[in-house]
Order: sequence, then structure tokens, then C-alpha cells
Amino acid sequence: MKRLTEFEDLADPTFSQGVIDWQRAHGRHTLPWQNTRDAYRVWLSEIMLQQTQVAAVLGYYARFLERFPTVQALAAGPIEDVMAHWSGLGYYTRARNLHACAVRVVNEYDGVFPADPVLLADLPGIGRSTAAAITAFSNGTRAAILDGNVKRVFARVFGVEGYPGEKRVEEGLWRRADALLPDEGIEAYTQGLMDLGATLCTRSKPDCGRCPLQARCVAYATGRTDELPVRKPKKTTPEKRADMLVVVHDNEVLLEQRAGTGIWGGLLSLPEVDGHVHIATAHDGGIALAAHAQTLGSVEEVQALLPLVHVFTHYKLHIYPHKVTLGERAATPAGHVWVRMDDVADAALPAPVKKLLLELARPSLF
Ligand code: ADE
Ligand code: SF4
Repeated sequence: MKRLTEFEDLADPTFSQGVIDWQRAHGRHTLPWQNTRDAYRVWLSEIMLQQTQVAAVLGYYARFLERFPTVQALAAGPIEDVMAHWSGLGYYTRARNLHACAVRVVNEYDGVFPADPVLLADLPGIGRSTAAAITAFSNGTRAAILDGNVKRVFARVFGVEGYPGEKRVEEGLWRRADALLPDEGIEAYTQGLMDLGATLCTRSKPDCGRCPLQARCVAYATGRTDELPVRKPKKTTPEKRADMLVVVHDNEVLLEQRAGTGIWGGLLSLPEVDGHVHIATAHDGGIALAAHAQTLGSVEEVQALLPLVHVFTHYKLHIYPHKVTLGERAATPAGHVWVRMDDVADAALPAPVKKLLLELARPSLF
């Protein structure tokens, strides 16, 4: 008996036949990049249709082809002209890659786009899915597409759990996409998947009533079209803690010049002590800063101030300020300066630190 491999297990010819039959009867057949095997025109349309809807592409496509009717014309065209004809379509890396790709097709392939999707995918701006679409439409090559729309259709039909942007989930979808390819009719099948995703199996309110895959669709059967595909998991912002010393003496505060790199590089800030430092409250021997172990002077009082939170793009910083009042001031540690509280407003300080010091400087509190 023939052993089933995982790959064969996913195959199901009735799936592609359903898509092909539906495409032939209800899909789109008159888009300007259809009914041609000209790889240049197909390639141009696929690049424009990445991240952009058909309606927005139509006018640009016609004007672009008028100005650059062949891959040679595009390769020769000054990049400024290419950018001008892309202006308004967005995602301008596509236009720069488009020009670079045309130059390579002319120089390396004599102006003929390679028919092998693996070679195509090596060219600028052409990923695995786009390469497959181009060769399917321009050569009838049997290769699988998997763009955002197709991922959505597959995730719903097969009830795929997990975020499709995640590598493991995406690999599973690619294996499905490969396994489900029809032996014949790759053009109608490829276009059918695109049409399904764009016209029926839309992100919100899919039109399941007209869908040829309804009878086999897990999301439809379980009422989960709103939950599939699984959305991108929210990143939890990391939290960090910084213990800062607010060393005050004679209406001045001790500030540290921060090194040139890092988030507050080049700014003055409060001296930081590592981690959960236990700060001596003794009135005798001064206080040790973990970072530079300097004796600052004789400590009159140590007082924990209310912590504050500052939100950066990549993390949340919890600042724990410790106010240290000196009786006698020792030599100023290297890289530090004493700044008059009156001058704090004008000092080059990080926003949360300045806010903290200005609140502290209000006469009632200081
Ligand atoms: N989106 C990506 N490729 C497409 C195509 N060939 N037709 C319609 N929409 C598409
Ligand atoms: Fe998408 Fe609905 Fe069709 Fe399922 S039945 S593939 S959710 S349109």
C-alpha cells in the first residue's frame, strides 16, 4: 500500500476544481493585464497590485505602459521619470525595485523575463508569491501563490490557527498552497484565488453565500469568519526600572553628563544606580553610587519620591527617584555637574527628568 506523506495528505483536486469553475463563471476576465502572455505587462501589474487595489492601479498601469511600453524602455528611462509615473501609488520602494529589475532583465536575460519562478524571485521586488503569479500568467507555470488575500482564504477554509505572519504558520500555508495546485488550468486557478480573496472572501463581511468553498469552509461552518485569520498578536512592551538619585545641596542638584550613544546620550540626567539598590539612610558616611562609587558628602536625609512612568516607543521606563539631601558636599564626581534648581528649566534634560525636577523645585515641595 502506498504510504501517505504529509504533502500528499493535503492534496485535494476538488478544491482547485471548485476555484477554477467559479473563476471561469464568476471571476474577473477583462482586467487590462489579463488575456496577455507578455511577461513585462504581467510583471508590471503584479508589482503595482502588491499592497494596492485594482481600482487604484488601473489608471497608473495605462499611463505607465504608454510611457514605458517595453522592459528596454523602462530600463533606459531615467529613474526620475519612473518615480514620476509612480507618484501617488505609494510604497515607492516598489518603483525603485521595478527600475532595477528592468535593468537586470535587460542586462542578464537579454530582455526576456525568466520563466523559472526561482530565477524570477531573485530579481529586485519579486518575492516567491509574485514570481509564481508572473510565471503562471505569462507561461502557465505550475507554481503556488500566497499573498495576503490567499492567506486569508486558506486560513478560513482550513481553519488555520495561528497568525499567518508567523514563520511556522506561513510555512504550513505554503505547503498547503503547493499541495493544492491543479494539474491543469493554473491561470484560472491563480486568478480565481485572487478574485475570491478580493471580491468574496474579504477581510470584513465575506460574501459566503456566493462562495464556491462554502461547503468545505471551517470558518463558515463554525461562525468564525471574524476570528480567522488570527490577528497579529499585540506586542507587550517591555518594562524597565531605573533608580535615580536626586542629590540636592544648597538649592543645587547633581546631574550626570550621559555618554554620547543610547537613548539619552548627550543629555544631562540624574545619576542612576543599578537595580534595586538599598540606599543607606545613615547620617554619617555619605552615599555610594553603584556606578562610580563616589562619596558625595555627608547625607542629611534620604527620601523615596513617588515613582513615575515614561513610555518610549520600545519600552516603558519606571523611574524610582531617591532624594538625597547633603549636609556637606564632597568633591564633584567626574562627569557630573551641580546645576542650580532655577536653571533646571533650561538644562538639556530628558523630558521626564525635567518634569520631575520642576515639580520638586516648586517651593512647597522643595
Ligand atoms: N492582485 C494581485 N494580482 C492580481 C491580478 N492578477 N488580478 C487582480 N488582482 C490582483
Ligand atoms: Fe471565505 Fe466565506 Fe468562502 Fe469561507 S465561505 S472561504 S469565509 S467567503
